[in-house]
Amino acid sequence: MNSDTTKQGNDDLDPARLPAHVAIIMDGNGRWAKKRLLNRVKGHEQGSETVRTIVRISREIGIQYLTLYAFSTENWERPKSEVSALMMLLNRFLKNELQEMQDNGIRLFAIGQLDRLPQPVSTTLKETIALTKNNTGMQLTLSLSYGSRTEILDMVRDIAREACQGKISAELITEDLISSHLYTRNMPDPDILIRTSGEMRISNFLLWQIAYSEIFITKTLWPDFSKEEYLHILKEYQSRDRRFGKITT
Ligand code: IPE
Ligand code: IPE
Ligand code: MG
Repeated sequence: MNSDTTKQGNDDLDPARLPAHVAIIMDGNGRWAKKRLLNRVKGHEQGSETVRTIVRISREIGIQYLTLYAFSTENWERPKSEVSALMMLLNRFLKNELQEMQDNGIRLFAIGQLDRLPQPVSTTLKETIALTKNNTGMQLTLSLSYGSRTEILDMVRDIAREACQGKISAELITEDLISSHLYTRNMPDPDILIRTSGEMRISNFLLWQIAYSEIFITKTLWPDFSKEEYLHILKEYQSRDRRFGKITT
């Protein structure tokens, strides 16, 4: 792990006020490539370098959960060639990063309709999750073929099934019960949601879970997103007053 980063700014973060969970909508790869008259796939390639950087620095700082929006249910509607390039890149990323995950105690997890992923990716994903499952340093969650509405729909169906079987009654359906039926059941809600590329929307990401997340939207395109900007966001997060609807005295 690159220890230089400590000298480049994360030492002025307050370790007691670090977010436990950072979620990122990694957007802007296509525009990054277009600006350079390159194929969109080049943007995705460069974007995967940014993923490496941000995973690394997150682990170094001591973030416990990092959740990245890598591919949405809606992204299946893109041209076949782009979808297969993204899947190939994902497979390559998982294979290349396994050693680094093991060396740094990173546990991989994935959320989404994982059964829709092509077989090679799905195999590598399952293997990587199994091989890293005992790591305790940081959980890296990839949202793949992920859509929040589908996740909510799955949750409602599960709870309805349990209710039909007489296992639960309507009164027992609580916010905690709902959370425990989502794909994110073993994680705290995100403290921070970052979106790159400037779009002011959520694009079907973690709708239930971000109820009280601090939102940061930057115009920077994902391939240009740097550890310095990330640290800057974390610093700003620490200065925000999270009131959760109450008043501060
Ligand atoms: C984000 O970049 C990556 C994925 C959605 C897979 P985009 O591919 O959406 O890039 P833009 O938004 O077209 O620039
Ligand atoms: C959101 O980006 C999904 C991911 C980052 C994987 P999109 O580019 O797909 O979202 P829209 O189309 O701008 O809403
Ligand atoms: Mg986009």
